[in-house]
Amino acid sequence: MHTIIEPFKIKSVEPIHFTTKEQRINILREAFYNPFLIKARDVIIDLLTDSGTSAMSSEQWAGIMRGDESYAGSDSFFRFEETVSSITHMKYIIPTHQGRASEKILFSITGGKGKYFISNTLFDTTRANIEFAGAEGIDLLCDEGKQPSLIAPFKGNINLIALEKCIQEKGAENIPLVIITVTNNSGGGQPVSMSNIKAASEICKKYNVPFFIDACRFAENCYFIKQREKGFENKSIFEIAQELFSYADGCTMSAKKDAFANIGGFLAMNDETLAMKCRNLLIITEGFPTYGGLAGRDLEAIAIGLKEVMEEDYLKYRIRSIEYIGDKLDAVGVPYIKPTGGHAVYLDAKAFLPHIPSTEYPGQALCGELFLEGGVRGVEIGTVMFGKYDADGKTIPAPMELVRLAIPRRVYTQSHIDYVAEVIIEVFKRREKIKGYKIIYETPLLRHFTARFEQL
Ligand code: F0G
Repeated sequence: MHTIIEPFKIKSVEPIHFTTKEQRINILREAFYNPFLIKARDVIIDLLTDSGTSAMSSEQWAGIMRGDESYAGSDSFFRFEETVSSITHMKYIIPTHQGRASEKILFSITGGKGKYFISNTLFDTTRANIEFAGAEGIDLLCDEGKQPSLIAPFKGNINLIALEKCIQEKGAENIPLVIITVTNNSGGGQPVSMSNIKAASEICKKYNVPFFIDACRFAENCYFIKQREKGFENKSIFEIAQELFSYADGCTMSAKKDAFANIGGFLAMNDETLAMKCRNLLIITEGFPTYGGLAGRDLEAIAIGLKEVMEEDYLKYRIRSIEYIGDKLDAVGVPYIKPTGGHAVYLDAKAFLPHIPSTEYPGQALCGELFLEGGVRGVEIGTVMFGKYDADGKTIPAPMELVRLAIPRRVYTQSHIDYVAEVIIEVFKRREKIKGYKIIYETPLLRHFTARFEQL
């Protein structure tokens, strides 16, 4: 078999600014050891996120020129609506400026004190929007998903027994909706199987609880289903996606991921009353329902991107390019969440730096070292992001200490990725000398974005 190559040619390029190690020591110190506070021009390979960082195609750029900027009823909106509707078959499609805007609208309408939202794993902004609305988020990930080194096909699945038990315990009337994240971003970019989605949806139906999908990375999830789940090998990604959404009553979407757009998102649902409430709030906070916080050109880019992302040549390259990093790390025993996920490699910082306790943020320390070594920017998904304090101010650590290296779509080539693997391996070789951090400044919600650290 030949090498799986990038299924595109490069038409437009952007320079990378190189820095020396001495410069990076200062840059990191000035950013208080928080990758979010580093200027993008000081980063060599930016794996902070796969969100909004995709390279758009020539077709998408052509769509940008075609964008209809009419305030109401723009052509671009109808092209966008038709595409989303062909994939999801949902009745009401509401554009928003990004995923969390969809979350804000959905959860402020359905949430409130005494309400519980159940998920396989809520992403940080999703959880924050739930909590901001006064409700509580509950993660019920399957057991396989909690063991970083265990190889299993669908480690993003929700624990179905726990789901039913939780609905009974909390009372269906207190659960506005169940939301499954595909792929499971905070848990390693691991996919959810079709049978798990179907079974979760049946449980929800039994108790009359609406079932939603956080669809940011739906196409990557569908490709895993095609590869790993019996009965889907001969189906197209489009058909698999249609089936996946057929089990749901609604979805939230950040088009900054699996739509190759630099901005955008949507809410889709079948319930007319809920849709009307969402549209009313949208008009106050985002914009008129046919643009929802976006320019017409953005809607055009999303409509085109949603079709391109389901092309199998692309997905084959995409998933293989992530797996390729995993192969390189396996060769020297670097610990990461196995198997590799759809959009990122998640280094297991707890196993990488076993001498650093959770209270000294091993993931954050590893992020710092990757930057120092080679200007590679990743993000901690561990106690900095998800840790809490108990009543006595003692840290309650997150279940896992991870460093996510998210790969922007269609942006980096194989040699960039080879370089990233070299940097990780260099840091791994000197791991015993790495020290932890302490927090010197933090905010109560989503502290990871702005927290400041000091090296211990
Ligand atoms: N849901 C999931 C699963 C996400 O990964 C994100 C964003 C959102 C919702 C919110 O979407 O950013 O458009 O408001 N994840 C980005 C990331 C930020 O880096 O993983 P948004």
